[in-house]
Amino acid sequence: MKRDRELEAGARAHFEDPQYYAQSYATRKDDVAYYTRVAKKHDRVLEYGIGSGRIALPIARGGAHVVGIDQSRPMLADLRTRLKRQPPEVRARITTRTGDMRTVRLGKRFPLVICPFNTALHLYTREHMEQWFSRVREHLEPRGELVLDISMPILEDLADEPGTSYAMKPFVHPTAGLVEYHEVFDYDRVRQILFVSMCFEPKARGQEPFMVPLAHRQYFPREFETLLHYNGLEATAVYGDFQGGPLVQSSDTMIWHARKRRK
Ligand SMILES: C[S@@+](CC[C@H](N)C(=O)[O-])C[C@H]1O[C@@H](n2cnc3c(N)ncnc32)[C@H](O)[C@@H]1O
Repeated sequence: MKRDRELEAGARAHFEDPQYYAQSYATRKDDVAYYTRVAKKHDRVLEYGIGSGRIALPIARGGAHVVGIDQSRPMLADLRTRLKRQPPEVRARITTRTGDMRTVRLGKRFPLVICPFNTALHLYTREHMEQWFSRVREHLEPRGELVLDISMPILEDLADEPGTSYAMKPFVHPTAGLVEYHEVFDYDRVRQILFVSMCFEPKARGQEPFMVPLAHRQYFPREFETLLHYNGLEATAVYGDFQGGPLVQSSDTMIWHARKRRK
């Protein structure tokens, strides 16, 4: 039970503070360009883990309708705030459903289903993956495409002693002000889950230190391909960066394209 709570926190806590999320990933643009390009060919897109719309908003500006599923109410509230600032036609192209990606059933099919930026790493067990892939198959048109990106397991990080701490540069947090910041890595080799503790120490007098947990399942490339295969899907392409480069030894990202398996 304790372990499940740990995973629940690791899938939710980082998404409780959309302002900090937006600040942290403000310069992450290559994936936005990639998914926007992929979505150009389609009129309707289903996004798992839509969050605050970092990817969905540019897709909707490009003309496609996006249905987004997410379990984080704060991230979806932030998306609603952002939508208010959009032209009415863009606003009309995004709809959201609050819920778990493993269980939400929309009763609709899409030519493109996306699951960007490590959202699939919050599927921690075989059962989680099976449940989600069932939903993906239900939501894909017969010739539809699933596109997702997950980080490549970095063996050096996973080999660290449990509790290894990495100090980062101090920075100005959107709500806590100037903070000292470090991350503590703790890899569970049996469950293949990397637990990251993001530790903030505000410099302003009277502010308490706080910690935000994040848990990411580590999927190795051949393991992920196998999961696709035995869940009725097949990989059609895999890339190692958002410029379409091959997956190689030094890649830190895997971008998978898949469709329903024909045989
Ligand atoms: C890294 S964010 C990605 C958000 C957005 N797609 C982006 O690229 O900025 C991961 C998102 O997945 C959501 N998420 C994690 N586990 C989920 C689950 N089981 N069901 C639905 N949403 C989930 C989180 O709430 C969060 O908004």
